[in-house]
Amino acid sequence: MRFSASAFVLRLLLSACVALALALPLALPLALPNTAQAAHKAKAPDKRGILLVAFGTSVPEAASAIDALKQQAEAAFPGIPVRLAYSSRIIRDKIARENPGDAGAVKRSPAQVLADMAAEGFTEVAVQSLHAIPGREYSDIKATAEAFQAMPKGIKKVSVGRPLLYGHADIARAAEAILLSLPKHKKGEAVLLMGHGTDHPANAAYAALQLALWKQDRSVFIATVEDTPGLDEIIPTLKGQGVRLAHLVPLMSVAGDHALNDMAGPDKDSWASRLKAAGIASTPVLVGLGSRPAVAQLWIDHLRDAVQDLSTKELGD
Ligand code: CO
Repeated sequence: MRFSASAFVLRLLLSACVALALALPLALPLALPNTAQAAHKAKAPDKRGILLVAFGTSVPEAASAIDALKQQAEAAFPGIPVRLAYSSRIIRDKIARENPGDAGAVKRSPAQVLADMAAEGFTEVAVQSLHAIPGREYSDIKATAEAFQAMPKGIKKVSVGRPLLYGHADIARAAEAILLSLPKHKKGEAVLLMGHGTDHPANAAYAALQLALWKQDRSVFIATVEDTPGLDEIIPTLKGQGVRLAHLVPLMSVAGDHALNDMAGPDKDSWASRLKAAGIASTPVLVGLGSRPAVAQLWIDHLRDAVQDLSTKELGD
């Protein structure tokens, strides 16, 4: 009895071993992580980046002013790589034409830089517009950013920071910051800011800024190069107020081609010449908004909001 009982136990053990031997190869892939599989499925850590988008300029001093804004962004967000793109194709093409064979001088579009960043494994990118108003350039940046977020294997999250004069609160802050940095002007003098101007509805931002400025200083005026109000609409007001000297200041991120030529240039069409013809002397101030620390800080603040959006925003927002 004893012998047969132990034989039974032995047989039981043997069959258990066979069952286990058969089952093990089937069970193993489920129980133990297959290293090759894990490597494919492992979620890579998020890699965050910043892309600054300027309209761009072919004037070297103005390009340095844009580069200085990039350095400020780098200082404000240590550890986050900052890239730069120029949104104007005309400017990019002009730079390429003027610097043949110089790969270092070539400027890239927002889409090109985002494609590079996606290829380098960036998963979250805060894109900051360095434009003044939320016009066509800004709409294009938003559309480009959204397209990258929708792309399979693209960047998972892309947020876009507001331009300088986005809404009421931004315009009020911008007015304060601009007034802080304007040249001192005595009685009989005015400051005339040169905005770019656009037929996009965002051109209304200039009128909103004008009202905010007038709350504090009735001798600061805005006119635009390409839309309303034009210089001709402002000259009668200047004359009516007895203005004999106007300080001309670009209301653009940098003092580029418009500031050097359309504002301060010697041509008879320039603002300096047209004002002179109207009996008003002028002194140009060739400093862009981006080189005025209080104003530059506003763009950095907007970028901070965009970086913050990366943490709060859900996919598909
Ligand atoms: Co222009």
